[in-house]
Amino acid sequence: MAKTKTSFFCQNCGTQSPKWVGKCANCAEWNTYVEEVIQKKQSHSKQAYSITSDKPHLISDIVAGNTLRFPLPDKELNRVLGGGLVQGSLVLFGGEPGIGKSTLLLQIALSASNLKVLYVSGEESQEQLRMRAERIGITNKNCYVLTETTIQNIFQQLEIIKPQLLIIDSIQTLYTSLIDSAPGSISQIRQCTADLMRYAKTTQVPVFIIGHITKDGSIAGPKVLEHMVDTVLQFEGDTYHIYRLLRTTKNRFGSTNELGIYEMTGTGLREVSNPSEVLITVREEPVSGVAIAAITEGVRPLMIETQALVSTAAYGTPQRSSTGYDLRRLSMLLAVLEKRCGFRLGSKDVFLNIAGGIKVEDPATDLAVVAAILSSGEEVPISPRYCFAGEIGLSGEIRPVNRIDQRISEAEKMGFEQIFISKYNKKEIPKNNIIKVQMVGKMEEFFSKLFG
Ligand code: TYD
Ligand code: MG
Repeated sequence: MAKTKTSFFCQNCGTQSPKWVGKCANCAEWNTYVEEVIQKKQSHSKQAYSITSDKPHLISDIVAGNTLRFPLPDKELNRVLGGGLVQGSLVLFGGEPGIGKSTLLLQIALSASNLKVLYVSGEESQEQLRMRAERIGITNKNCYVLTETTIQNIFQQLEIIKPQLLIIDSIQTLYTSLIDSAPGSISQIRQCTADLMRYAKTTQVPVFIIGHITKDGSIAGPKVLEHMVDTVLQFEGDTYHIYRLLRTTKNRFGSTNELGIYEMTGTGLREVSNPSEVLITVREEPVSGVAIAAITEGVRPLMIETQALVSTAAYGTPQRSSTGYDLRRLSMLLAVLEKRCGFRLGSKDVFLNIAGGIKVEDPATDLAVVAAILSSGEEVPISPRYCFAGEIGLSGEIRPVNRIDQRISEAEKMGFEQIFISKYNKKEIPKNNIIKVQMVGKMEEFFSKLFG
């Protein structure tokens, strides 16, 4: 077989070089050269899918049919995808190793009994997949598995099996014989993804690609994959906790604001349809240092529990530690409490934790964090029927947050009696609330209303 021509290209400026070089002679960047296929021989045309050539059309003449979506047997995933899986779409499913990517997608493959599914795994043997399937406990007569890593062989099998849904367990293990570099290298990943994209677009078969996330949080190193695919899903969570969040960071067929929540059980992943209920600990008596925040994850309102522990520093330097919440934000809130409200926290250890192993970024959590810190510092419990949604500014003012109506109705639905929000959110408050809405503008006002 004649060897395909490859060449090395600088990823920064595009300079071509026949050999790999460490430093680009043109832009002086280091480590930017990546091998790419520059010309494919005709003999490969069978393996590599080619796009049929097209003529330009007037955009007004094109009939926009409803994109063909088919719902998957998983409500959370359907919602995150924007209402079902679109035919011919390429979905990148990223996440840290061990988070449950293979489990979730195998579960989908097994429960989609109306579809012929091919699950290609380059990571596990057939026996391992079978064991996992037994653990999940669903059987599907239409689910095929293939343990193969060479993309040309995979395409051959695809032509025989003709699946309706293709799942690739890890793009990092795929290998195209057109390029010399090792599986997992950028050029391999890019070439394989491009081939899979062409396959998806020409056959209209939706393809899920699992991608491991590197230490810095991006999928397969530089963002080489994200721009090529239609949808990027991220599976996150803490492997020591049971909850997993599924987010979209890119979606050509829907919004990127959706969030799916799963619980890892002994028999696969379970959809969590009422997350607020599971994230809040039900306690017999109120305890100090706990406050409930009404946050939104994308467009989904969610009640989460913030826990704080304030104690006298045992050693000279007080410790500040935070799990699930930005540590710098915590330091800022402590500084505001100290400077604007006169609380002496300078000699105290402060520990903050968001229950359930969830990471929050919504600034509306601030008010609950402050309430939890003060409740712990003063040893006064907050009623478990109260919740909070407000951002705190540097001058100690309580700033408005978005989607306040959704937060209020979620709090009401969950049976909360009072919600503390910024008074600047007043206009957006829905009428006819059963829940009492407490509006506060300054920290002092907030404390006197909360602790009396
Ligand atoms: P896995 O899907 O292999 O992760 P990834 O493909 O993202 O690397 O899942 C790994 C973890 O999930 C593993 O530590 C075991 C756990 N697990 C369960 O808790 N319950 C189950 O039913 C299964 C199949 C796995
Ligand atoms: Mg896996």
